[in-house]
Amino acid sequence: MSQETVKLIYQGQTFELPLVTGTEGEKAFDISQLRRKTGLITLDSGYANTGSCTSSITFMDGERGILRYRGIPVEQLAERSSFVETAYLLIHGHLPSRRELTRFSVLLNDHSLVHEDMRSFYSTFPRFSHPMGILSAMVNALRSFYPELQTIEEEIDMTVTRLVSKVRTMAAMSYKISRGHKVVYPRPDLSYCANFLNMMFDTPVRPYVIDQDMVDALNVFWILHADHEQNCSTSTVRMVGSGRVNLYAAISAGIAALWGPLHGGANQAVIEMLKKIHQGDESIDRIIQRAKDKSDPFRLMGFGHRVYKTFDPRARIMKKVCDRLLEKLRLEDPLMDIARELEARALSDSFFVDHNLYPNVDFYSGIVLRAMGIPTNMFTVMFAIGRLPGWIAQWKESMDDPSWRLARPRQIYVGPPETAYVPMNEREDREPGPIHRPGE
Ligand code: ACO
Repeated sequence: MSQETVKLIYQGQTFELPLVTGTEGEKAFDISQLRRKTGLITLDSGYANTGSCTSSITFMDGERGILRYRGIPVEQLAERSSFVETAYLLIHGHLPSRRELTRFSVLLNDHSLVHEDMRSFYSTFPRFSHPMGILSAMVNALRSFYPELQTIEEEIDMTVTRLVSKVRTMAAMSYKISRGHKVVYPRPDLSYCANFLNMMFDTPVRPYVIDQDMVDALNVFWILHADHEQNCSTSTVRMVGSGRVNLYAAISAGIAALWGPLHGGANQAVIEMLKKIHQGDESIDRIIQRAKDKSDPFRLMGFGHRVYKTFDPRARIMKKVCDRLLEKLRLEDPLMDIARELEARALSDSFFVDHNLYPNVDFYSGIVLRAMGIPTNMFTVMFAIGRLPGWIAQWKESMDDPSWRLARPRQIYVGPPETAYVPMNEREDREPGPIHRPGE
């Protein structure tokens, strides 16, 4: 903590607010005593200028396009690590030793089965339920199947292992059940990523042949999504967790937050947008025009980011993975050609340049997932599996933080001043909307 302060002058009085400096020189002034000392609060829609915590998990610099987990550049992890090792790094704060990694992998394998009774849950969801809704509900339901353990250390260790291990099984299971296919169980001889692909695509009549290029691409996809500091879903996990709910409930809330098209749902939205162009329902020209038109709520999906004001470093890696995978598999995806052209057009357009709008990770990840055979409505689930270690690490950090309190923002009330209750017969008679009855 530095000795520097920021001075706030209000109603002739000067208040000194301590300055906090991070490892990489980022600065914030600490307003935790602001209301007590001045009677003021801050107003920051979308929290764009608000630090909600100090954290030693992930560093990102939006201006320079840097992303590091526990200090290690994401480029190095994508090149040299595995998703399981990266998950360990995020959750435990250091790269595992060989024996630590073996123990983690053994535990992930041992806990990979899902309680058989959970299968009956799946069958009660309506046929066309979105897998994100199912996943969020199922993760929340895990608490009912696995009650709290004796000690907090044991509880955290087991819950973390169960979540990382089972979420992948549950995701593959929901896909199989939604297709009316037989569920495939995890295999102890397969790696985390290979196991997932096998559970998704193996069938009794057509055994799935594991392709190492696919496994490698999935590894990188999940590593790139593993954490991204205080984004919408992670902040949700921390906020819900601050009420001291169990980890399953906090992660379930994070999954729900990730579902939105402005956040994790963007990878699905990108593919839908590219498909519309391919089918001729939209054109690149019209898409670009619409994105620039202030009166049109449309946004160019997979472009722009709250923090990155340059290329999202994950997008660069994902684009390379995408090119490599399509080339190795000798796949031709017309959506990839459209994506390349759309990117080039947007990056040479002054609107996107002036607004610092560059492709984010979701712009190319959908094409990678398509090449693996993942159906579009499972894309955000894929993101959720990848983000899980980050959510867990952030939740754990918040639980261990002595200064962490129940998250409870304030507001500036702008509604009516005190107003007396009006009896029914004295109220204005207004036209109500129609009543839609079920079955009508
Ligand atoms: N297309 C067109 N214009 C955009 C876009 C876009 N994708 N993104 C931002 N803008 C424009 C806005 O219209 C606004 O213009 P103005 O200043 O002239 O009014 C300006 O850029 C700033 O926009 P904000 O909404 O204030 O930026 P914010 O930081 O809140 O938005 C967000 C970030 C939500 C990601 C936004 O860029 C967006 O909607 N992108 C498309 C959805 C997407 O790809 N989401 C994935 C994000 S990455 C992730 O979650 C993994």
